[in-house]
Order: sequence, then C-alpha cells, then structure tokens
Amino acid sequence: MSDIKYVGIFTTKGGVGKTTISVNVAEMVGWREKVLLLEMDTNHSITSLLKVRATKISEIKKGVSPRKVGNFYLVSMDGETQKVERTIPPEKIMNGIGKALADFDKVIVDFPSTISPLVLYLMDRMDFVAVPFVPSFLGLGAWYYTKNIFKILGYDSYGLFLNMCKFSLFRSKEERELMERLNREEKFMKGLAIPYDRRVLRAEKLHVPAVAEFPKSRFSKGIEKFVKRVFGGDMVANDRIKSR
Ligand SMILES: Nc1ncnc2c1ncn2[C@@H]1O[C@H](COP(=O)(O)OP(=O)(O)O)[C@@H](O)[C@H]1O
Ligand SMILES: [Mg+2]
Repeated sequence: MSDIKYVGIFTTKGGVGKTTISVNVAEMVGWREKVLLLEMDTNHSITSLLKVRATKISEIKKGVSPRKVGNFYLVSMDGETQKVERTIPPEKIMNGIGKALADFDKVIVDFPSTISPLVLYLMDRMDFVAVPFVPSFLGLGAWYYTKNIFKILGYDSYGLFLNMCKFSLFRSKEERELMERLNREEKFMKGLAIPYDRRVLRAEKLHVPAVAEFPKSRFSKGIEKFVKRVFGGDMVANDRIKSR
C-alpha cells in the first residue's frame, strides 16, 4: 500500500463533485482498508444525501467511536464545532480527534468550498489534495482562485483532475478550446478524467444498505483510476508528499 494516508478533495466551487468523489472513493478503498471519511462540508451533504447519521466531531472528542456507513466510517462537522470554529484555535478543536484518526489506514476529507482556520489546519495535514475541475468558464475561474489560495499558502501537494459531472459536459466550441488551452498550461493528474457516469454512487437515491451492497464491479472506471492515481505507487514516486 502507498504512503498516502490523508487525502482531501477541495475546490472553491460547489457542485463539481467533491462529495460524490469523496463518497465513491471512500466506498471503494473501504473494500480493502479501514477508511474514515471526514465530512467538513457544513451543509451535511453526505449525512443528508445518504440519509445516515454520522458521528459528529464533538462526539468523537467525547470518546464516541466513528460510525460505519457502507464500507467506510463517517465523521461529520457539526453545529457545536462550527460555532467555535472561528474563535477556538484549530489545534484545540482537533485535539482528541488525532487518536481516532490514527486508527485508520486512509482518511479522506470532503472539504467545504470555503476557507476557515480549521480548513487550513486540516489542509496542511493532507498528504495530497485533489482538486476537481469542470470544463466551463466558471470552473476555470474556480481553478485559478483555488490555485492562488494554494500559492499563498505555499501548498504544493495537490493535483487537478477533470470531473465530467452532469453540469460539465462539453457543449460548446469555447469549452473545447478552453480545455485544449488548459491542457497546455496546467498539469492535470496524468490525464485523469472521471467521465459522466451514472454508476457513480447516486447519493440522492442511496440508503445505507445500498451503499454496503454496492458491487465492486459497478464502480466507474473513473473512480478506479482516481484511487489508483491518488493512492497508488505513482503518487509516491513524484515526491509530492509533504513531510508530516
Ligand atoms: N462523474 C460524475 N458522474 C455523474 N454525476 C456526477 C459526477 N460528478 C458529480 N456528479 C453529480 O453532480 C452533482 C454535484 O456533485 P457534488 O458531489 O454534490 O458536488 P460538491 O460536493 O462539489 O458540491 C451531484 O448530483 C452528483 O451526483
Ligand atoms: Mg459537497
């Protein structure tokens, strides 16, 4: 197995697949390793979409064990933690969570589209942050914005990948040209594209047993590729892992 343990999914744009990719990847990697999905998006998307009750960060601090959902364990940002997010130092908030995290082989973080001290603190602990990109002008704007945030932070353990979610199918000549230009200017994660694929877990329609029974073979090829690229040997070789 690779040295990569903490992987975040982040971009400043909403609706581009952060949650979908996080859930799919957690579910897939969960077949072979103990995976924690940390849901930092405060609109509780996984919790509400999967219609499950996640363990809250505040509960973990009180010693509650993370709850299993499908193939992975789900811990979620909660109101109580959110209330103190901007007044209490992040290390204090995360104090007591570290022990729970240590118990997992992989930790996947579904980041919110906004930045807070807690988000920055967590970002700094990621071995790698994957940035979903949608081929539209808004998508391009979000990428430049996100890239600048990384630059300001001096953060270089990230990779851009293309997610062709339903709002991002190529429609116009302009979008095609945009992609050609971007392909010349930016390094995508070795051509990693997740095609628009109905087989990605349709969170809207899922309930916990459905997630648990989701047959391996039905994972989209794109998700398989993502897992291999991010957690596989490739990533370890290109010295992008931050020393922790
Ligand atoms: N590769 C994909 N194939 C099919 N649908 C996708 C894909 N990626 C995202 N979607 C859909 O796009 C919508 C937004 O995705 P979501 O993960 O909620 O975005 P975010 O977390 O970035 O706000 C969801 O309805 C999701 O099912
Ligand atoms: Mg989301």
